[in-house]
Formats: sequence, C-alpha cells, structure tokens
Amino acid sequence: MRVLVTGGAGFIGSHFVRRRLAVGDDVVVLDKLTYSGNLANLEGLGCDFREGDIADAGAVSEAAEGCEAVVNFAAETHVDRSILEAGDFIRTDVYGPHVLLEWARRSGARLVHVSTDEVYGDIPEGTTSRETDALRPSSPYSASKAGGDLQVLAYVRTYGVDARVTRGANTYGSHQHPEKLIPLFVTNALDGQPLPVYGDGRQRREWLHVADHSAAIELVLHEGAAGEVYNVAGEERENLDVMRRIVEATGADPSLLRHVADRPGHDRRYALDSSKLRQLGWRPEQSFEQGLEQTVEWYRANRAWWERIKSGEYRAYYARQYADRLS
Ligand code: TYD
Repeated sequence: MRVLVTGGAGFIGSHFVRRRLAVGDDVVVLDKLTYSGNLANLEGLGCDFREGDIADAGAVSEAAEGCEAVVNFAAETHVDRSILEAGDFIRTDVYGPHVLLEWARRSGARLVHVSTDEVYGDIPEGTTSRETDALRPSSPYSASKAGGDLQVLAYVRTYGVDARVTRGANTYGSHQHPEKLIPLFVTNALDGQPLPVYGDGRQRREWLHVADHSAAIELVLHEGAAGEVYNVAGEERENLDVMRRIVEATGADPSLLRHVADRPGHDRRYALDSSKLRQLGWRPEQSFEQGLEQTVEWYRANRAWWERIKSGEYRAYYARQYADRLS
C-alpha cells in the first residue's frame, strides 16, 4: 500500500512510519519540521520524505500523488504552548484537516485522522468517555483538535469521504519531544533539574504506549469504517504516581519535585471507553510500569537525541513557561 503519513517526523508519526515500512508499505512522509518534527526520527528508514505543511493544498496534492490512504499525525499538540499562543493550532489542527479532506474528496483516498481524548474535556471519577459523548474541550489545543474531528465527520456525511477518527490517550515512549510530562521529567531528572508539578499533582491521565497506539491506528486504517470514531485507551494513573516512578527509575533526588502554579483551565481527569476498538481486535501489549522503565532507559541511552532539542528553541519556551513558576 502507498500511504502518506503527515507529521511522520514527529513522535507517534515516526513510530507509525517504522511499523508500515516493516510490513512493506511504500511510505511518503509530509512534515513541516516545526520545533517538534525531527528528521533524526526517520534516519536510515528509507521513506520518501517531503518537507511541507498540511495547510498548503499544493504541498499535500504533490506528496499524496498515487497514495491510497493518508494518516494524519500532523498537529500542534502541546496544551501549554496553546495557552501561550493559539494561532498555529488553528492553522494546523483546524485548517490542515480541511485541506486533507478536500484532497481525499477529490482523490477518493482513505483518511485516518489522529485525534485525542482531550476533546471530551475532563470527566468525573468513575466515568469513561464514549465516542458518542459531547465534545467539551477546555484548552485552545483541544478545541482546535475538536474542530478538526468535526470537519472529518461533516465531510463523511456531506461528501461521502472515506474518513475515520481515532482519539488516543496520553502517549509515551521513545522519541517524544521533552516538552511533554514524561520526557520532560525523565530528562530533567537525569540532569538533576527541578520537576515542576502543576497544582496539587492529583490530576489523572491514561497512559498509552506508542507501540500500542500505532497498532490501534493501523487497525482502524484497515478495519475501521468511514464516519466512525475509535477511542484508544491507556492505563489510568495520577500524575504524582507517574512523577514518583520517574524519580525512582532515574535515581533522582525526590526533593527535585516542586509544586508550582497550575496550568490555567487544567483538566482534572481523562478516561476512555475503548470497547469499540477492542471489538475490532485491539489489545494493548505494554504494561505502564514496564513501558515507563523502558522509556527511561531509552532517554538514558540517547542523551544526544534530547540534548540537541533542549539546546535550541526549547530554551526560550522553557523560560517562558517555567521561569516564573520555578523562581
Ligand atoms: P502533558 O504531557 O502536557 O499532556 P496533556 O496536558 O496533554 O495531558 O501533561 C500531562 C499531565 O502532566 C497534565 O496533567 C499536566 C501535567 N504536567 C505537570 O504537572 N508539569 C509539567 O511540567 C507538564 C509538562 C505537565
């Protein structure tokens, strides 16, 4: 199968590319190489790489030539950055899917749109979100992703486009940009730097290993149905539990944990019901504890990969996001 993977130089996208190359697919990657896209993630893989923006119709039709399917990982994804500045989120997460949908409409190709559990907003203890639940996004990021999801569903209904949506939990594993909780804490802990806990740290997230997430997206590509949404759940943990495990696994000093000013609008809890995906045959293989240990080992062994990222644009972002909080 010839498949276009947008955002294929990013975290989940590059894992998915590796997986598709392993089954013999012809993979084209379209990636804008923003701060979070990283060509090192695709090194030596032998895919056809095109630098470009999903919001640019010309770049999309050129890259997509001859593809039977597109899997869209391209997105601005970090909640904290969306709170600082949301414009790029609207362009990439709302206008970008529109361009991909227009291309799918013209070509008849299939589209898998990768979204997030954050579109449901936070939910009370003891409940889980189902695919049919109302979308109540809290942050500029999750609102932009919800906008993309709704366009996909509208294009299926209006034009009969062959598109489907996945909504994944918090994903972790190797090659994740160190702005996100797990790699931020692991790399800071390895460097003996403070670990900023937003608010009381009692927020809850579901954690999904990137290999299990990629397998779910692959299943939806082949076995999912047009117009359907599929939740991809993880294992629920309180943030402080995850943070303490990282301190332990890295051998860092627990006093590095610092409670700092909370994120505005911070969602307390996400949890997904993914029985629909399980009915298609999906079963996660990685336990959180084991997956986290392996992830810590990867960051320990690949210091050059993350030190390069942390030395660039990241420094300005880190100062803007954390300097006041940690002072
Ligand atoms: P994050 O990785 O940003 O993912 P999301 O906001 O999409 O869930 O954050 C995961 C959780 O960790 C979230 O509840 C916010 C919290 N967090 C901190 O406490 N400190 C931090 O420095 C970061 C980045 C996140």
